[in-house]
Amino acid sequence: MSNQERLKRAAAEKALELVQDGMLLGLGSGSTAKYFTEGVGRLVASGMKLRCVPSSRATAELAAGLGIPIVQELLGAIDLAVDGADEVDPNLNLIKGRGGALFREKIVAAASKRFVVVVDESKLVKQLGVGVLPVEVSPFLWRTTAERLIALGSSLTVRGGEEAPFITDNGNLILDLTFEAGIDNPVDLAAAIKVTTGVVEHGLFVEMTDTCIVAGPTGPRTLGRSAVAARKPGPDGGQGPKGRH
Ligand code: 5RP
Repeated sequence: MSNQERLKRAAAEKALELVQDGMLLGLGSGSTAKYFTEGVGRLVASGMKLRCVPSSRATAELAAGLGIPIVQELLGAIDLAVDGADEVDPNLNLIKGRGGALFREKIVAAASKRFVVVVDESKLVKQLGVGVLPVEVSPFLWRTTAERLIALGSSLTVRGGEEAPFITDNGNLILDLTFEAGIDNPVDLAAAIKVTTGVVEHGLFVEMTDTCIVAGPTGPRTLGRSAVAARKPGPDGGQGPKGRH
Protein backbone atom coordinates (compact mmCIF):
# COMPACT_ATOMS: atom_id res chain seq x y z
CA MET A 1 0.00 0.00 0.00
CA SER A 2 1.38 3.44 -0.97
CA ASN A 3 1.90 6.15 1.62
CA GLN A 4 -1.01 8.15 0.18
CA GLU A 5 -3.31 5.11 0.50
CA ARG A 6 -2.23 4.74 4.12
CA LEU A 7 -3.16 8.38 4.75
CA LYS A 8 -6.54 7.99 3.07
CA ARG A 9 -7.25 4.97 5.22
CA ALA A 10 -6.11 6.79 8.39
CA ALA A 11 -8.51 9.70 7.70
CA ALA A 12 -11.43 7.38 6.97
CA GLU A 13 -10.78 5.28 10.07
CA LYS A 14 -10.69 8.39 12.25
CA ALA A 15 -14.19 9.20 10.96
CA LEU A 16 -15.38 5.76 12.10
CA GLU A 17 -14.99 7.04 15.68
CA LEU A 18 -18.02 9.30 15.01
CA VAL A 19 -20.32 6.39 14.22
CA GLN A 20 -22.85 5.44 16.90
CA ASP A 21 -25.28 2.59 17.20
CA GLY A 22 -28.58 3.22 15.39
CA MET A 23 -27.23 5.85 12.98
CA LEU A 24 -28.34 6.38 9.42
CA LEU A 25 -25.11 7.02 7.50
CA GLY A 26 -24.41 8.68 4.17
CA LEU A 27 -21.66 6.79 2.38
CA GLY A 28 -19.46 8.73 -0.03
CA SER A 29 -17.71 7.56 -3.18
CA GLY A 30 -14.09 7.25 -4.25
CA SER A 31 -10.98 5.61 -2.91
CA THR A 32 -10.93 7.39 0.49
CA ALA A 33 -14.65 6.96 1.21
CA LYS A 34 -14.25 3.27 0.36
CA TYR A 35 -12.14 2.78 3.49
CA PHE A 36 -14.95 4.31 5.55
CA THR A 37 -17.54 2.00 3.99
CA GLU A 38 -15.32 -0.99 4.68
CA GLY A 39 -15.04 0.11 8.30
CA VAL A 40 -18.82 0.48 8.56
CA GLY A 41 -19.07 -3.07 7.22
CA ARG A 42 -16.85 -4.23 10.08
CA LEU A 43 -19.01 -2.39 12.62
CA VAL A 44 -22.17 -4.01 11.22
CA ALA A 45 -20.49 -7.42 11.30
CA SER A 46 -19.63 -6.83 14.96
CA GLY A 47 -23.30 -6.24 15.76
CA MET A 48 -23.80 -2.47 15.48
CA LYS A 49 -27.20 -1.46 14.09
CA LEU A 50 -26.50 0.87 11.18
CA ARG A 51 -28.26 1.75 7.94
CA CYS A 52 -26.84 3.66 5.00
CA VAL A 53 -27.62 5.80 1.96
CA PRO A 54 -24.91 5.16 -0.66
CA SER A 55 -23.94 8.05 -2.97
CA SER A 56 -23.17 5.97 -6.07
CA ARG A 57 -23.84 2.60 -7.60
CA ALA A 58 -20.28 1.54 -6.83
CA THR A 59 -20.71 2.38 -3.14
CA ALA A 60 -24.13 0.69 -3.08
CA GLU A 61 -22.57 -2.51 -4.45
CA LEU A 62 -19.74 -2.35 -1.92
CA ALA A 63 -22.14 -1.70 0.97
CA ALA A 64 -24.50 -4.49 -0.08
CA GLY A 65 -21.55 -6.90 -0.33
CA LEU A 66 -20.52 -5.99 3.21
CA GLY A 67 -24.03 -6.61 4.56
CA ILE A 68 -24.77 -2.96 5.40
CA PRO A 69 -28.55 -2.36 5.24
CA ILE A 70 -29.38 0.18 2.50
CA VAL A 71 -32.16 2.75 2.73
CA GLN A 72 -33.88 3.58 -0.59
CA GLU A 73 -36.21 6.37 0.53
CA LEU A 74 -35.33 9.04 3.03
CA LEU A 75 -37.75 10.36 5.64
CA GLY A 76 -35.91 12.96 7.72
CA ALA A 77 -32.20 13.58 7.86
CA ILE A 78 -29.11 11.41 7.56
CA ASP A 79 -27.25 11.43 10.90
CA LEU A 80 -23.73 11.50 9.51
CA ALA A 81 -22.37 11.55 5.95
CA VAL A 82 -18.69 10.86 5.27
CA ASP A 83 -17.08 11.46 1.88
CA GLY A 84 -13.78 12.28 0.21
CA ALA A 85 -12.93 15.40 -1.80
CA ASP A 86 -10.66 16.47 -4.63
CA GLU A 87 -9.76 19.90 -3.22
CA VAL A 88 -10.37 21.47 0.20
CA ASP A 89 -9.82 25.21 0.76
CA PRO A 90 -9.12 26.95 4.11
CA ASN A 91 -12.88 27.59 4.57
CA LEU A 92 -13.56 23.87 4.01
CA ASN A 93 -15.23 24.60 0.68
CA LEU A 94 -14.68 21.71 -1.69
CA ILE A 95 -14.33 20.57 -5.23
CA LYS A 96 -15.77 17.10 -5.64
CA GLY A 97 -16.78 14.91 -8.53
CA ARG A 98 -13.59 13.83 -10.20
CA GLY A 99 -14.91 10.32 -9.58
CA GLY A 100 -18.14 11.29 -11.34
CA ALA A 101 -20.56 10.86 -8.42
CA LEU A 102 -21.04 14.51 -7.46
CA PHE A 103 -24.83 14.74 -7.97
CA ARG A 104 -25.80 12.00 -5.54
CA GLU A 105 -22.92 12.95 -3.25
CA LYS A 106 -24.34 16.45 -2.97
CA ILE A 107 -27.87 15.20 -2.30
CA VAL A 108 -26.52 12.98 0.48
CA ALA A 109 -24.38 15.78 1.98
CA ALA A 110 -27.27 18.25 1.83
CA ALA A 111 -29.56 15.78 3.59
CA SER A 112 -27.14 15.16 6.45
CA LYS A 113 -27.04 16.65 9.93
CA ARG A 114 -23.26 16.38 9.88
CA PHE A 115 -21.08 16.23 6.76
CA VAL A 116 -17.55 15.01 7.40
CA VAL A 117 -14.88 15.09 4.70
CA VAL A 118 -11.94 12.70 4.83
CA VAL A 119 -8.77 13.47 2.87
CA ASP A 120 -5.04 13.00 2.79
CA GLU A 121 -3.17 16.28 3.03
CA SER A 122 -2.48 16.45 -0.72
CA LYS A 123 -6.09 17.62 -1.15
CA LEU A 124 -5.57 20.87 0.79
CA VAL A 125 -5.30 23.96 -1.43
CA LYS A 126 -5.08 27.71 -0.78
CA GLN A 127 -7.64 28.42 -3.47
CA LEU A 128 -10.05 26.06 -5.25
CA GLY A 129 -9.55 25.46 -8.95
CA VAL A 130 -6.06 23.98 -8.95
CA GLY A 131 -7.57 21.17 -11.01
CA VAL A 132 -10.83 20.84 -12.93
CA LEU A 133 -14.29 21.58 -11.59
CA PRO A 134 -16.65 18.78 -12.67
CA VAL A 135 -20.17 19.79 -13.72
CA GLU A 136 -22.87 17.21 -14.47
CA VAL A 137 -25.05 18.26 -17.41
CA SER A 138 -27.94 16.78 -19.33
CA PRO A 139 -26.78 15.20 -22.59
CA PHE A 140 -29.68 16.96 -24.37
CA LEU A 141 -28.24 19.90 -26.37
CA TRP A 142 -25.20 19.76 -24.10
CA ARG A 143 -23.17 22.02 -26.40
CA THR A 144 -25.47 24.94 -25.61
CA THR A 145 -24.97 24.24 -21.90
CA ALA A 146 -21.20 24.12 -22.48
CA GLU A 147 -21.33 27.53 -24.19
CA ARG A 148 -23.09 29.01 -21.16
CA LEU A 149 -20.44 27.58 -18.86
CA ILE A 150 -17.62 28.91 -21.06
CA ALA A 151 -19.30 32.34 -20.81
CA LEU A 152 -18.70 32.13 -17.04
CA GLY A 153 -14.96 32.25 -17.71
CA SER A 154 -13.99 28.60 -18.02
CA SER A 155 -12.57 26.35 -20.67
CA LEU A 156 -13.86 22.80 -20.60
CA THR A 157 -13.61 19.25 -21.86
CA VAL A 158 -16.17 16.45 -22.03
CA ARG A 159 -15.10 13.71 -19.63
CA GLY A 160 -14.11 10.63 -21.60
CA GLY A 161 -14.09 12.60 -24.87
CA GLU A 162 -16.94 13.30 -27.26
CA GLU A 163 -16.66 9.93 -29.01
CA ALA A 164 -17.19 7.81 -25.91
CA PRO A 165 -18.17 10.14 -23.07
CA PHE A 166 -18.27 9.10 -19.44
CA ILE A 167 -21.92 8.59 -18.43
CA THR A 168 -22.89 9.19 -14.81
CA ASP A 169 -25.09 6.94 -12.65
CA ASN A 170 -27.90 9.34 -13.62
CA GLY A 171 -27.38 9.03 -17.38
CA ASN A 172 -25.73 12.44 -17.75
CA LEU A 173 -22.41 13.86 -18.99
CA ILE A 174 -19.63 15.46 -16.98
CA LEU A 175 -17.99 18.63 -18.26
CA ASP A 176 -14.65 19.32 -16.60
CA LEU A 177 -14.18 23.08 -16.26
CA THR A 178 -10.81 24.80 -15.97
CA PHE A 179 -10.45 28.28 -14.50
CA GLU A 180 -6.97 29.45 -15.48
CA ALA A 181 -6.55 31.79 -12.50
CA GLY A 182 -8.31 29.47 -10.04
CA ILE A 183 -11.70 30.14 -8.41
CA ASP A 184 -11.75 33.53 -6.64
CA ASN A 185 -15.24 33.39 -5.26
CA PRO A 186 -16.68 29.87 -4.90
CA VAL A 187 -19.98 31.19 -3.48
CA ASP A 188 -20.75 33.35 -6.52
CA LEU A 189 -19.49 30.79 -9.00
CA ALA A 190 -21.57 28.03 -7.40
CA ALA A 191 -24.67 30.21 -7.66
CA ALA A 192 -23.97 31.12 -11.29
CA ILE A 193 -23.41 27.51 -12.37
CA LYS A 194 -26.42 26.29 -10.41
CA VAL A 195 -28.81 28.51 -12.40
CA THR A 196 -27.31 27.62 -15.79
CA THR A 197 -29.92 25.86 -17.90
CA GLY A 198 -28.82 22.32 -18.71
CA VAL A 199 -26.72 21.93 -15.56
CA VAL A 200 -27.83 19.08 -13.31
CA GLU A 201 -25.31 19.76 -10.51
CA HIS A 202 -21.79 21.03 -10.00
CA GLY A 203 -18.87 19.89 -7.89
CA LEU A 204 -18.50 23.00 -5.72
CA PHE A 205 -19.59 22.11 -2.19
CA VAL A 206 -19.79 25.53 -0.56
CA GLU A 207 -20.40 25.97 3.17
CA MET A 208 -21.49 22.35 3.49
CA THR A 209 -18.56 20.76 5.33
CA ASP A 210 -18.88 20.57 9.10
CA THR A 211 -15.67 18.71 9.78
CA CYS A 212 -12.65 17.79 7.68
CA ILE A 213 -10.33 15.02 8.82
CA VAL A 214 -6.94 15.47 7.18
CA ALA A 215 -4.35 12.72 7.40
CA GLY A 216 -0.67 13.65 7.25
CA PRO A 217 2.59 12.08 8.38
CA THR A 218 1.92 12.95 12.04
CA GLY A 219 -1.55 11.35 11.98
CA PRO A 220 -5.07 12.59 11.30
CA ARG A 221 -6.10 16.07 12.46
CA THR A 222 -9.60 17.50 12.57
CA LEU A 223 -10.57 20.86 11.10
CA GLY A 224 -13.98 22.40 11.89
CA ARG A 225 -15.93 25.09 10.11
CA SER A 226 -17.00 27.90 12.41
CA ALA A 227 -19.66 29.32 10.08
CA VAL A 228 -22.21 26.68 10.99
CA ALA A 229 -24.72 29.54 11.17
CA ALA A 230 -25.09 29.21 7.40
CA ARG A 231 -27.05 26.06 8.04
CA LYS A 232 -30.82 25.90 7.87
CA PRO A 233 -32.88 24.14 10.56
CA GLY A 234 -33.54 20.53 9.64
CA PRO A 235 -36.81 18.63 9.61
CA ASP A 236 -36.39 17.88 13.30
CA GLY A 237 -35.81 21.55 14.07
CA GLY A 238 -32.18 20.88 14.97
CA GLN A 239 -29.08 20.82 12.81
CA GLY A 240 -30.12 19.76 9.38
CA PRO A 241 -29.71 20.12 5.66
CA LYS A 242 -27.21 22.73 4.57
CA GLY A 243 -28.09 26.14 3.19
CA ARG A 244 -25.62 26.67 0.36
CA HIS A 245 -24.92 24.06 -2.25
C1 5RP B 1 -16.26 11.29 -6.44
C2 5RP B 1 -15.69 12.24 -5.46
C3 5RP B 1 -14.60 11.74 -4.58
O1 5RP B 1 -14.96 11.92 -3.25
C4 5RP B 1 -13.36 12.53 -4.88
O2 5RP B 1 -13.09 12.40 -6.27
C5 5RP B 1 -12.17 12.05 -4.06
O3 5RP B 1 -11.85 10.74 -4.44
P1 5RP B 1 -10.62 9.97 -3.84
O4 5RP B 1 -10.90 9.74 -2.40
O5 5RP B 1 -10.56 8.70 -4.65
O6 5RP B 1 -9.39 10.84 -4.07
O7 5RP B 1 -16.06 13.38 -5.36
O8 5RP B 1 -17.21 11.91 -7.25
